[in-house]
Amino acid sequence: MKPAPFEYAAPRDLDEALDLLAEHGDDARVLAGGQSLVRMMNARQVSPAVVVDINRVPGLDTLGVFGDNGSSTLRLGATVRQRTSELSGEVAAHAPLLAEAGAYVAHAPVRARGTVVGSIAFADPSAELPAALLALDGLVKVRSRAAERTVAADDFFTGPFRTSLAPDEMVVAVDVPAAPGRTGSAFVELTRRHGDLPVCGAAAVVGVGDDGRVSHVRVALCGADERPIRVPAVEAAVLGADGPAAFTEAAAVAADGTPVRPRRRRRPMPDKVRVRITVNGTRHDLLVEPRTLLADLLRNDLALPGTHLGCEQGVCGACTVLVDDAATRACLVFAAQLDGASVRTVESLAGADGTLHPVQRAFTQEHGLQCGFCTPGMLMGACELLERVPEPRREDVEEALGGNLCRCTGYQNIVRSVRAAGRIMADEQSEVRA
Ligand SMILES: Cc1cc2nc3c(=O)[nH]c(=O)nc-3n(C[C@H](O)[C@H](O)[C@H](O)COP(=O)(O)OP(=O)(O)OC[C@H]3O[C@@H](n4cnc5c(N)ncnc54)[C@H](O)[C@@H]3O)c2cc1C
Ligand code: FES
Ligand code: FES
Repeated sequence: MKPAPFEYAAPRDLDEALDLLAEHGDDARVLAGGQSLVRMMNARQVSPAVVVDINRVPGLDTLGVFGDNGSSTLRLGATVRQRTSELSGEVAAHAPLLAEAGAYVAHAPVRARGTVVGSIAFADPSAELPAALLALDGLVKVRSRAAERTVAADDFFTGPFRTSLAPDEMVVAVDVPAAPGRTGSAFVELTRRHGDLPVCGAAAVVGVGDDGRVSHVRVALCGADERPIRVPAVEAAVLGADGPAAFTEAAAVAADGTPVRPRRRRRPMPDKVRVRITVNGTRHDLLVEPRTLLADLLRNDLALPGTHLGCEQGVCGACTVLVDDAATRACLVFAAQLDGASVRTVESLAGADGTLHPVQRAFTQEHGLQCGFCTPGMLMGACELLERVPEPRREDVEEALGGNLCRCTGYQNIVRSVRAAGRIMADEQSEVRA
């Protein structure tokens, strides 16, 4: 079992849900789509005593437009799935930005469970939907057993994963008012892979009045600060404009960056550092950013993707390489620390003609690899051990590779493989001597 034990409550109406939150306060967590909460509970980043599953509360799945054309409002209840919102005709007609931004969230299976309101309540500073709600001038409808209040998106997000919600409160819906005038919107983001949280993203809503001038503009960023933020300097550059020149100016303001983050001093980019490093026998003379990790240098700059990244926290051992013959976590060493060092990766093992290294042969013969994800780290750890201890005992292997996790749990075969590799290497050496 990954999460810590907790009491599961599935209230059948809103009052019951609010009673539970009032009773348990900080010890309780609302479970909406669970796509963030369960992940955190699996990692034990959070361990609520009580999980309040709101998915059976009637009325929270409301999705609709209320009011007349002059002051209509789109309402999305707390259990409306991200996928439902993304595909809804009413959302597309009333707040296309929400649908557009929503399509960038994760992958369809995650959006099929994750909720729009859950993403807002989670308040991940990189997330798309909070920035979209901010640009749309949205409202967050909050309930507790004692009271009901409406919070402007501008005031709802208070920090990374922090909101103005009290422990006994929950969000019951978000409202998006009709945008004034002739209005257009757009969402763009920069991300490493489709479905990842964005490095940063921008949501914009621009309305044009009868005189052809921009009468309404809201620009919000995600991934740019500790919470989704508006960009007043960019908005000011566009408001009242009647031609495309203003957008060029706004782009320059945005690119300059200074007015975007007035509250914090931007940390100057430090000088690059010179690193002379030998990797798999090839010498490299490189200029690297001080924050470049060895694993990223190998995979991204030197095109050696054999070094795998699992946890990136030093825990799983997938990224193990040899630095000056010592097994080292490549995810926890900066390249800048390695000027003059010699690094060996899994790519160094096979011969130029493709002949496998004894360790690779032994892993194949003894079924020491299944999916192969942990294998590069295991192989390099094994090489280091066999260079130190040519005929290791079982305990030697366990000691050397005990910090390397195999998700396929092939540990017995891995231990056998390492010891078999020792025997193959010893045999080959005696053949050479003879
Ligand atoms: C593989 C993967 C990739 C992802 N990629 C992205 C991405 O690219 N962009 C992105 O934005 N997100 C991403 N996510 C997160 C995902 O979108 C979540 O669905 C979302 O952040 C939370 O919504 P949820 O309904 O699942 O909330 P839950 O996980 O149920 O809840 C999240 C938090 O909000 C609280 N909460 C939920 N609903 C309420 C409420 N009504 N009132 C008060 N508190 C509430 C919970 O108690 C919990 O603390 C990803 C998740 C996964 C698993
Ligand atoms: S990725 Fe480096 S230890 Fe897991
Ligand atoms: S072989 Fe699959 S993780 Fe180890």
